[in-house]
Amino acid sequence: MLDVPVLDGAAVLATVSPQAAIEAVLEAFVRHRRGEWVMPAKVYLPSPGFGDFRAMPARGDGLAMLKWISSFPQNPARGLPTVLGVVLLNDAETSEPLLVLDAGAVTALRTGAVAAVASRALAAADATAAGVVGCGVNGAWAARCLRAGGWAEGVVTDPRTGVAETLAEELGAGWRAGSLAEALAQDAVSCVTPGAAEVVTEADLRPGLHLNLLGADGPGKAEATVDAVAACELFCDEWEQAAHGGELTRAVAAGRVTREQVTDLGAVLNGERQACRTRDGLPATTLFDSTGLAIQDLAIARAAHHALLGGAAAGQSVRLR
Ligand SMILES: NC(=O)c1ccc[n+]([C@@H]2O[C@H](COP(=O)([O-])OP(=O)(O)OC[C@H]3O[C@@H](n4cnc5c(N)ncnc54)[C@H](O)[C@@H]3O)[C@@H](O)[C@H]2O)c1
Repeated sequence: MLDVPVLDGAAVLATVSPQAAIEAVLEAFVRHRRGEWVMPAKVYLPSPGFGDFRAMPARGDGLAMLKWISSFPQNPARGLPTVLGVVLLNDAETSEPLLVLDAGAVTALRTGAVAAVASRALAAADATAAGVVGCGVNGAWAARCLRAGGWAEGVVTDPRTGVAETLAEELGAGWRAGSLAEALAQDAVSCVTPGAAEVVTEADLRPGLHLNLLGADGPGKAEATVDAVAACELFCDEWEQAAHGGELTRAVAAGRVTREQVTDLGAVLNGERQACRTRDGLPATTLFDSTGLAIQDLAIARAAHHALLGGAAAGQSVRLR
């Protein structure tokens, strides 16, 4: 018999803490950089008129993972989430299915975790205050992970009434809701908006500011102007994705940014490259383009699998044969 545990969204979030997610995602970047974890390119399957499906595979540490996830922008009007899907985790030696997880929760945890990992690695050494722009599903988890990662104070902002206030209350002492300008005035700012309109312009930049831009994870999306992007010291999670479907895309297409100007986060985390902290004698303005990687999803699925092996209860399972 083959019974496969299934973790729904709430169970994923109960099984993998933000702190565990941060450690797992950091390790994933390092092991991918060292060639120990592999990740073929993401495959897009358009569903014309509705959205697209994405298949994101990765393998590492004796495990193989596939995230099969949608982006259907009109879904909220139908009472459905924009993003729906599943993560499948298999044994890489036997191919045995090991675990099924809700992809939305895995995505939120790994996306939030990378904001915390990048902020710690790339922000100024004396940075203490975080800003979060966009407090939807993934912005809220970025804020939770930043807080778990040691950012004891911050400003969250969102145009929807009450959303930022509710999140700030949950985050607790040191965190508050504020305006976009107040959020952008913090030391390390994570933007997690839909990417339909720019929220960062060159006028918002200043020496020592660190930006994580997470909202632009596909073609046609942007959270910063091309001038703002081109004015920063640049980092990305993966060049191909960032150059073709991320925040860097427009600046690359306009010839304002080249491959040589962009450092992979994994190279910094693996100790190969210093996070550039100065430009023209002043603290640099740094920008990390996160497009979202399958290795991050594998990191969360692996952490959940380890927790189950350690005795955490899955609650439900499916009998495949
Ligand atoms: N980089 C990654 O790994 C990754 C992972 C998941 C999602 N995403 C992307 O992140 C974006 C947000 O995803 P989500 O699931 O959190 O969406 P969501 O709809 O749950 O949240 C988006 C939030 O942004 C707010 N917002 C819109 N315009 C804003 C503005 N000008 N200033 C501040 N806030 C604003 C909205 O009110 C909303 O609360 C999407 O583009 C999504 O595709 C990226």
